[in-house]
Amino acid sequence: MRRVYLDHSATSPPLPEVVEAVRDALERFPGNPASLHGLGVEAEGLLERSREAVALSLGAEPSEVVFTSGGTEANNLAVFGAAWARQDPHVVVSAFEHSSVLEPARRLKESGVAVDFCPVDGEGFVRLDALEDLLRPNTALVSVVLVNNEVGTLQPVAEVARLLDRAQARWGRRPLLHTDAVQALGHVLFRVRDLGADLVTVSAHKLGGPKGVGALFVRRGVRLRPLVLGGDQERGLRAGTPNLPGIAGFAAAVRFWDREGDHLRDRLRQLSGRLRAGLQALGGLRWNTPSDVDRTAPHILNVSVPGLRGEVLVHRLEQEGVYASTGSACHSRRAHPSHVLLAMGRSKAEAVSAVRLSLGPETTEDDVDHAVAAFRAALEDLRFLVRS
Ligand SMILES: Cc1ncc(COP(=O)(O)O)c(C=O)c1O
Repeated sequence: MRRVYLDHSATSPPLPEVVEAVRDALERFPGNPASLHGLGVEAEGLLERSREAVALSLGAEPSEVVFTSGGTEANNLAVFGAAWARQDPHVVVSAFEHSSVLEPARRLKESGVAVDFCPVDGEGFVRLDALEDLLRPNTALVSVVLVNNEVGTLQPVAEVARLLDRAQARWGRRPLLHTDAVQALGHVLFRVRDLGADLVTVSAHKLGGPKGVGALFVRRGVRLRPLVLGGDQERGLRAGTPNLPGIAGFAAAVRFWDREGDHLRDRLRQLSGRLRAGLQALGGLRWNTPSDVDRTAPHILNVSVPGLRGEVLVHRLEQEGVYASTGSACHSRRAHPSHVLLAMGRSKAEAVSAVRLSLGPETTEDDVDHAVAAFRAALEDLRFLVRS
């Protein structure tokens, strides 16, 4: 049966050149980058060339890139690391962050740190007016995701940075700005300095790199308390022998997107437009991803079928060879309504009826047409289940 993989936001299958880079690192670079001998120096060379590639793609200096075990660890490092580095910190995160930002923020709150969750609007954008009201003289960190992983909205992070500049003018101290750019890297053009961000999270496997490797951009001069102790790797911010094959694969993925990105972003936009139009024509759907192409990533569409549980539709689509998900991969096996959709003001019933379709470099027009036909067949089949 034809397989159409539309779950690239959960993970995007490794690109051929990534597989090659991982194999090459395993075979030709067996040393520990910290060792003094020649094999160590060679491994260190590969590590630093990979760091340069990731830095170049972010518009950062290589010394500002800290490799981690993925986006989750990078987000934990940003939130805990920034809060622990200050006396009496106050932290603001948006209410629809990925759980790897939300849960550390909740943990901080449990431990007595002042934490506020900034509301988002019904279209899936952080409310800048509310965010500004939440800022205080002791705000240490503000965290706003760049592309929301469930609905694909592109957040006005550069405008958040301007609010923080105003806070600095008022109180003489600028809160650190963290953005989780895991779903943005490659898919959306950005430079860390244009965003005005101090901390930026990225992850390799969302752009065809290996799973279990990511990075945190830490702007020069920013002080963080490390989470993982026991070695001075990564400038003391992340102890442990680095995952060199994974990091080399990450660099290969980033180079691929740097080279092909302009063309791929246009293609993803055109394909998601086609998918949206095809599904729209089926009728009876409620879109959770706004249609404004300037404020959304090109590869994520989220739609609810009112009255039908998302997981039922996901399983039915799989019978047609279409792989989708109900929302964030971290929680898609739990029956909870999506916190992202609830934060956007959707009812519980609407929030459990969502399906996310996310496209990647190998997606074709035929795949999109097959997915629309699969949706049509699934909806006809499951109509008897739909509760109004
Ligand atoms: C927005 C966002 N942040 C963080 C993560 C976690 O990244 P990783 O899977 O590399 O831990 C994900 C993955 O789903 C994500 O979509």
